[in-house]
Amino acid sequence: MKRVYIETYGCQMNVADTELIFGVLGREGYLRADSPEGADLLLVNTCAVRDNAEQRVIGRMGELQRHKRPGSVLGVVGCMAQRLGPILLERVPKVDLVVGPDGYRNLPELLGHAHAGQRTVDVEYRRWEHYEDIPQVREPGPTAFVTVQRGCDYRCTFCIVPTTRGPERSRLLADVIGEVRELAAGGTSEVTLLGQTVNSYHDGTSDFADLLIAVGAVDGIRRIRFTSPYPTDFTPRVIDAMVQTPAVCDHVHLPVQSGSNSVLRRMSRRYTRERYLEVVDALRTGMPGITISTDIIVGFPGETDDEFADTISMVREAVFDDAYTFKYSVRDGTPAVKIKDHVDDAVATTRLETLIDVVRDQTRRRNAARVGEVHEVLVERPAKRGDLMLTRTRRNYVVLVDLPPAAIGEYRTVRLTGTTGSTFTGALYQPALAVL
Ligand code: 5AD
Repeated sequence: MKRVYIETYGCQMNVADTELIFGVLGREGYLRADSPEGADLLLVNTCAVRDNAEQRVIGRMGELQRHKRPGSVLGVVGCMAQRLGPILLERVPKVDLVVGPDGYRNLPELLGHAHAGQRTVDVEYRRWEHYEDIPQVREPGPTAFVTVQRGCDYRCTFCIVPTTRGPERSRLLADVIGEVRELAAGGTSEVTLLGQTVNSYHDGTSDFADLLIAVGAVDGIRRIRFTSPYPTDFTPRVIDAMVQTPAVCDHVHLPVQSGSNSVLRRMSRRYTRERYLEVVDALRTGMPGITISTDIIVGFPGETDDEFADTISMVREAVFDDAYTFKYSVRDGTPAVKIKDHVDDAVATTRLETLIDVVRDQTRRRNAARVGEVHEVLVERPAKRGDLMLTRTRRNYVVLVDLPPAAIGEYRTVRLTGTTGSTFTGALYQPALAVL
């Protein structure tokens, strides 16, 4: 039996793509290896959104080269492979394969070349590619990622993804539903729909609202999440569908990127601060209790102190429940490269630290106030530390609860008993018996 080891970096779509690669290779007789030692094929599925992600991969590739024995194959796949292509052959001397996100179907053929001693690069865009006939090989569990859209047609000036993942295309609704039905039949009750601008989903006939309603109607699906939506694609129709579909969870991750209108304009985001806040309002009106997390970039070219102050005030005004914060990273080939006015790295670092403090403080206070709340949780898996189970509420709070592994996949009601500031502990909730 041949064995493949895959290391995955970056977003959820990369996790889903790794499952797809296991599907492609499974047909070739490969089994999954849990460590690189002794594997016949070593793959690194990469992210290209920021330079530090790429540097980490280059470092890791250096280490993995050491696990390579005669006859085994080392490959780089994913967004960094797509972005750098043949350059990776120079940077990593022992790499045999470089394959972008649209080339996974060809892995068996490329492996043949590699075994014949040929190093190959496949970074072609295939705008029809959905891997419809290739089943993802998922880790068993109650939740699953379902890719509904690949690529991106938005042109945010900081972002490399349109280059690495090619043009936007949506899977047919019927195909998505077929997959969700199979998942539900296998015991999955929560799906996370994936796309770069997932709520711009359109298969030619059906839009994202139709998709939510259809997924919500699949027997056995109790929870629907999706990531990442684009603010202005939350049309009233989509919000209505969310409100009308009980399975849709009370959480959205809604990248804002900046709180400053002038920065948003330079980023070519298609909304203003005010418009973004209207969307947040509409979501909170439709789904009271919904939590909202976001992504924020600091140090975008030309960002002034005042513009940064607008981002800080945005965190407070939007009352984000959580925020992933990043220092702007120059990506060759993106339009922002041409904006000359780069922010000094030390300034950007200080801004990032300030922002992280504000976000952390706000999150801590909000979460402390939530202790005592009662929520339904889905028991997902053992927590990394201790022998507690990691569970999650519809609002996306992570709650550690003392439960047996047999509870995985089940829904329980818990009372939040404490918080670290970001995650919670909880205890099974037994409502006091009503006195008749
Ligand atoms: N620099 C810093 N952060 C970036 N992101 C995307 N491109 C860049 C970049 N060039 C961030 C955005 C996006 C998240 C996935 O990564 O905030 O939402």
